[in-house]
Amino acid sequence: MKIYKAIRQDHDIQRELCKKILETSGESEERKQLWDDLKKELEVHAVAEERYFYIPLIDTDEMQEDARHGIAEHHEIDELIKEVDEADMTSAAWLAAAKKLAHQVNHHLDDEEDDYFDKARDIYSKKDAKKLADGYEKTMKEYRKGWPESLPKNQS
Ligand SMILES: [Fe+2]
Ligand SMILES: [Fe+2]
Repeated sequence: MKIYKAIRQDHDIQRELCKKILETSGESEERKQLWDDLKKELEVHAVAEERYFYIPLIDTDEMQEDARHGIAEHHEIDELIKEVDEADMTSAAWLAAAKKLAHQVNHHLDDEEDDYFDKARDIYSKKDAKKLADGYEKTMKEYRKGWPESLPKNQS
């Protein structure tokens, strides 16, 4: 498998979780569980994707700007995650914050799939793209396990 498909599969998980979470209400077990799952997927994916998709592109003339933009959007998504976390789950503000997050996530995933993947195909060889997928998948597996403590940013 190449890096594009590996990432796309996880994007679909995120899309599904975003959709489901907006259909929940109040402080239900379902909402709590979905929020936990979505947060985990977003945080783990950002680390693995930066490492195995964006960071090697920063050194290229063609995609340096795109790579920086993509990583900057991960930080924006992080801020929106914080907003949801800080809102009271029973309030309308929580759902509003979750909607904002879901909107931003969907926009970001579309940018990656519709624009960045195409451009990256001119840079990464088929062999590179397979190697990157292996590293990406290994990292996803490793960090999903034991999340959130497993993430580099949460280790002291
Ligand atoms: Fe991303
Ligand atoms: Fe992504």
